[in-house]
Amino acid sequence: MCGIFAYINFLVERDRKYILNNLLVGLSRLEYRGYDSAGLCIDGKNDQEILIYKQVGKVLALRQKIEEDKDLDLNKTFLSHSGMAHTRWATHGVPSERNSHPHRSDPSNEFLVVHNGIITNYKELRAILEKYGFVFESDTDTEAVAKLAKYIYDSQKKAGNPLSFTALVKAVCKELDGAFALIFKSVHYPDEMVAARRGSPLLIGVRTDKKMKVDFVDVEEVVLGEDQVGNQQNYRRVQSRSFFGEDTTPQPIEYILASDASAIIEHTKKVLYLEDDDVAHISAGDLHIHRLRRDDNMSSIRTIQTLVQELAQIQKGNYAHFMAKEIHEQPESVINTMRGRVDFNKFSVNLGGLRSQLTNIRRSRRIIFSACGTSFHSCVATKSLFAELTDMAISLELSSTFLDERLPVYRDDVCIFVSQSGETKDTLLALQYCKERGALCVGVTNTVGSTISRETHCGVHINAGPEISVASTKAYTSQYIALTLIALQLSDDSHQKTARRKEIIEGLYSLSNNIKKALAQEETIKKIATQQFKSATSLILLGRGYQGATCLEGALKIKEVCYIHAEGIFAGELKHGPLALIDNTMPIILVMNKDRHYSDVENAFKQVTARGGNPIVICNEDDDSSLFHNMSTIRVPRTVDALQGIINIIPLQLLSYHLATQYGYNPDSPRNLAKSVTTA
Ligand code: UD1
Ligand code: M6R
Repeated sequence: MCGIFAYINFLVERDRKYILNNLLVGLSRLEYRGYDSAGLCIDGKNDQEILIYKQVGKVLALRQKIEEDKDLDLNKTFLSHSGMAHTRWATHGVPSERNSHPHRSDPSNEFLVVHNGIITNYKELRAILEKYGFVFESDTDTEAVAKLAKYIYDSQKKAGNPLSFTALVKAVCKELDGAFALIFKSVHYPDEMVAARRGSPLLIGVRTDKKMKVDFVDVEEVVLGEDQVGNQQNYRRVQSRSFFGEDTTPQPIEYILASDASAIIEHTKKVLYLEDDDVAHISAGDLHIHRLRRDDNMSSIRTIQTLVQELAQIQKGNYAHFMAKEIHEQPESVINTMRGRVDFNKFSVNLGGLRSQLTNIRRSRRIIFSACGTSFHSCVATKSLFAELTDMAISLELSSTFLDERLPVYRDDVCIFVSQSGETKDTLLALQYCKERGALCVGVTNTVGSTISRETHCGVHINAGPEISVASTKAYTSQYIALTLIALQLSDDSHQKTARRKEIIEGLYSLSNNIKKALAQEETIKKIATQQFKSATSLILLGRGYQGATCLEGALKIKEVCYIHAEGIFAGELKHGPLALIDNTMPIILVMNKDRHYSDVENAFKQVTARGGNPIVICNEDDDSSLFHNMSTIRVPRTVDALQGIINIIPLQLLSYHLATQYGYNPDSPRNLAKSVTTA
């Protein structure tokens, strides 16, 4: 759970100040991937000296540390230079300077590495390398990679077989188990950089004034011989072409490598996504992609894609936090999820990503939904609509328990994996498990090019735009809509369901306006946060039917950003235990909409108030029930039952946001949590 970033300029003169700023800004864009410490490395007096800076805390702290170094000549210019940086979320060893990246091979910084992912065999590697005299400085898995690079480099050189930087990195990667996106820098290969990926995302941005002749890179297929450390590498190039076709004149060019497009977009829109087992070599302005091993199924062409995101999309705008910005983006993000997919005149839905598999999905035996956290709640929220519209057997499985339970999955199952980031390890493992068993795997992801998006057989991008705040808000509403659209499309062959489908599509049409009306309740909600929940240490959210999911998701938001214990309870369960918690001191939120569960929730309301409870009621604007005359209410527009959860979650998102800021917490970076959970 880390962010890696690198910047390479070739024949483009840049001063050190520019290079450092690029690295630091790049890191700050990736901070949502981890932010407990940060580090970077740049060239020193010359390219035989590498300077490393590391700092615990956020990127700003690293910037301050660098600014304090008065010996650093910021005006020194470089015609060609490679620098790399890392923002960390601890997995091996506590957040500390010595555990921060870049990690080095030795005290003279011969090889430096930044890494995102986990090397599972690092203990074995470390033990071997210690035997060879290497002294480890950190508790990380990554350090073994840097030291292994030096070990292989030295031993090959000694054997009279000096390796190219690419061949060296390939030899290193072949010894690694686990997941990684790695970038290497070395004094032995000045101004060169090698990056490799397996299981963790990595992309390369290209910036040049010269028009590119081709918009793809042919991969150099490489056959490696025996892969034992120290053995001679045997490789063969099949084909290779750089961007400028046959033009061999060196061109001024800059490359930006990052875990995520949000760090690249301000430099260039031209990017190339690395595939698993790709090794990218950048040297003298050229980019070559090699394969770690022969793989007949892997295309030998990597397309240079044009990013469609705008920088403004990833900035905070006028909001104090990304979470606030993202909550307020929802009137627009829900439209983006439906854009080009829903015909409101014909009441039809067309999801391009599912078209080819619709028949197979309809023929399947059951649908299994799997996800974690908020993404899981979007599945809970849409489960009954799915069952109602498709008449199929539906099962919901938390990805984090999927493998524990070794659930039977068959070829005629359809498994839907929902993930904002598309990189959640638990969900990826569940996906792998289902794929191995022959099930049709469908992704619902927000991140184009993410691992889940690419590993699933087909799917739907929710198109909510980048979500930076760790607390997921706009992704939830967009996932909810995307899943609803899938159910609508799957049922469009059923005449019986026409009226219901029409009712829901009409509800989708007015969704954006209804979200705006719910957002307009912000002042009321802020008041409730400051006046009624000021000293709350625990909170209960009650709802029924579709609103059970709203309560689960509302409670997760409150736990996550306010550090208050909160529990979402399906109101029918109250009498089976939780009622014992109710008295006049327990803060309660009750979700009560005018749907078929209204009288059941009324019962819950009575059970709670009879025990001294004083719930805050989220109800519809047109609800004039005398029951809650003396209660605080948050009134939201009424919509079709299956979509009401999208409106109801808005006040709970706002409540958690205002509670968090009232306590002085930064809701964008809750303690102990990171945006992308890439460990199982
Ligand atoms: C696609 C384009 C969109 C364009 C539209 C025009 C992309 C990413 N999307 O959108 O820019 O405006 O056509 O018709 O280029 N997929 C998965 N797993 C997932 C998510 C998606 O396999 O988790 C696959 C889909 O099956 C599909 C592709 O990725 O093959 C793109 O999916 P999506 O963006 O949802 O498709 P469209 O809405 O058709
Ligand atoms: O990226 P994903 O949707 O797969 O992430 C799953 C959960 O980790 C995520 O939804 C988490 O629960 C959110 N931080 C909650 O706000």
